[in-house]
Amino acid sequence: MQILILYFSGTGNTHYAAHYLARRLERFPLEVLVRSIEQVPPDKLPAFDILGVGFPVHGGEAPIPLAAYIRSLPPGDGRGAFAFCTKGAFAAGASRRVLRRLTEQGYIPLGETGVNMPGIDLLPFLAKDSWLLRKMVEKNYNHLKPLDRLASRIGEIALAIKQGDDPTEFKIQLPTLPGSKTIEKLWIKLYDRMAIWLRGKFYADERCNLCRLCVRACPAGNIQVVDGRIRFGDRCYLCLRCLHQCPQEAIQLGQGTVGKARWRGPMGDFNPLVHP
Ligand SMILES: Cc1cc2nc3c(=O)[nH]c(=O)nc-3n(C[C@H](O)[C@H](O)[C@H](O)COP(=O)(O)O)c2cc1C
Repeated sequence: MQILILYFSGTGNTHYAAHYLARRLERFPLEVLVRSIEQVPPDKLPAFDILGVGFPVHGGEAPIPLAAYIRSLPPGDGRGAFAFCTKGAFAAGASRRVLRRLTEQGYIPLGETGVNMPGIDLLPFLAKDSWLLRKMVEKNYNHLKPLDRLASRIGEIALAIKQGDDPTEFKIQLPTLPGSKTIEKLWIKLYDRMAIWLRGKFYADERCNLCRLCVRACPAGNIQVVDGRIRFGDRCYLCLRCLHQCPQEAIQLGQGTVGKARWRGPMGDFNPLVHP
């Protein structure tokens, strides 16, 4: 029984969540592989019996690269799947929609959840000594209840399937609650507008020493050095990895992020060049 957890993480929260979930599942005991979608193309995936997909919510949706990746996954052929997202506040049903998409590709939906993590879109506008930032840093990341609940469910299901149960027995419904569709649509639309505005706001200030870490770490390949200066193209996923990873804190989203907080995952050690 092999569980494969695939994830995308811009700044480390989902990377942390994916490994947290794997550690919980391994206690059952189960075999769990964790892979970033930046590490392995969808046609080169290791064999698996149950697939987990994790991602940060971007404007109420899955990030651009994850949505494209899911479309290229091998057919589910009746295998189980689950989805989880990390979010700053409101997921707008993003993990439910990802799981629904997997269902359309032949996977059996087994569970989904969202877990609150620091909103890495808000964070770079917070002062480094702000109360809110302290609260985010001091949160107990050793106990993430939504992920614990998901791990318990998936763990028990995996053991039952291993003993011969049919995955369809554990299939969940993915209903959209009345009224929530309108709120979700509004949220997505609002963020969409903001995204267009935000994409034009990136720049590297005078602290940039052309170390090129942003060029190498950008998952969209959207950053280049042109005439000795950092240039941002028009393929940005808005994951904010460049801004949070820059060792000089030179990458800004407008003036509001200068000298403000940066984030490298819950343990402060997210390194996308080593573990994307
Ligand atoms: C462009 C962008 C849009 C976001 N949109 C939402 C959102 O709609 N709802 C929400 O709760 N969090 C939102 N967030 C916050 C992230 O989902 C959250 O911080 C996530 O844990 C980041 O995960 P990562 O570190 O793995 O990239 C957004 C972040 C970014 C950068």
